[in-house]
Amino acid sequence: MSSLSAVRNAARFVLEAVAEPGHLNILILNAGLVFAQSGGTTAEGYEPHMGVNYMANALLIRMLLPALKRAPGRNGRVVLVSSIAARLAWLGLETGPPDPAKFKDAKTPIGRSYARSKVAGVLYAIELAKRNQDDLTVLVIHPGIVDTPGTAKASLLHRTVLYIFGLLLYGGYTTPEDGCKNYLWACMAKRETVESGGFYGPVGRREKGTWHDGNEAARKVLWEWTEREVEVYAEV
Ligand SMILES: NC(=O)c1ccc[n+]([C@@H]2O[C@H](COP(=O)([O-])OP(=O)(O)OC[C@H]3O[C@@H](n4cnc5c(N)ncnc54)[C@H](OP(=O)(O)O)[C@@H]3O)[C@@H](O)[C@H]2O)c1
Repeated sequence: MSSLSAVRNAARFVLEAVAEPGHLNILILNAGLVFAQSGGTTAEGYEPHMGVNYMANALLIRMLLPALKRAPGRNGRVVLVSSIAARLAWLGLETGPPDPAKFKDAKTPIGRSYARSKVAGVLYAIELAKRNQDDLTVLVIHPGIVDTPGTAKASLLHRTVLYIFGLLLYGGYTTPEDGCKNYLWACMAKRETVESGGFYGPVGRREKGTWHDGNEAARKVLWEWTEREVEVYAEV
């Protein structure tokens, strides 16, 4: 599902299934490329990590937000699966707002592309939470360093980096069964006990977000640019 048209079709399928104007309680945004592809672009010309891990999520949110906001008790929830890579990445945003044009370049090293897509997701989630305080809860989660098909396929260099971080932060690789626990927590945690837009490590542990979370100007530029980009696909 590398093209936004396919993502749009998936969102339409969901909307048909909930029989608009029905509602959605939870949207979990998990699908992602994990250090997966170097070079090339998605059908729309985005760097692959940015296209799949960021733009596709933004389009899904955009299309499914009205149904989430109709959830009973204003209890709709978005769970965005991020990564420790987002917390560690220093992407040059300190010099000003992000340059969205860079999202289309396919020359960035693979680790940086992955981290950049995850930072963008976190900033978007914070803005989403801020703009929908009354009727949406947005949780950004990190599952730990999990032994999945995705991490198994990564290069030796990336697997070594993941292993070291896993060891330092979580005592080693987590099994897929344990890796699911933070997802379950994010779906079940009581709204009053969480901070919408917050970054939560395993399991349900509030952690510092990215270096860029407090950069309001960067968040605003990214949000507005992203909305303009996905609007085209949402409305075709
Ligand atoms: N594993 C970790 O240590 C770790 C750590 C931090 C964050 N994460 C995050 O956790 C999420 C899941 O990662 P994972 O480790 O479970 O990776 P994975 O084993 O590679 O699983 C990725 C999932 O995303 C789907 N996917 C990938 N590209 C897609 C596309 N273009 N369209 C539709 N679906 C697509 C895959 O579907 P198919 O199987 O059909 O290809 C698969 O279900 C990712 O967002 C990742 O960044 C993982």
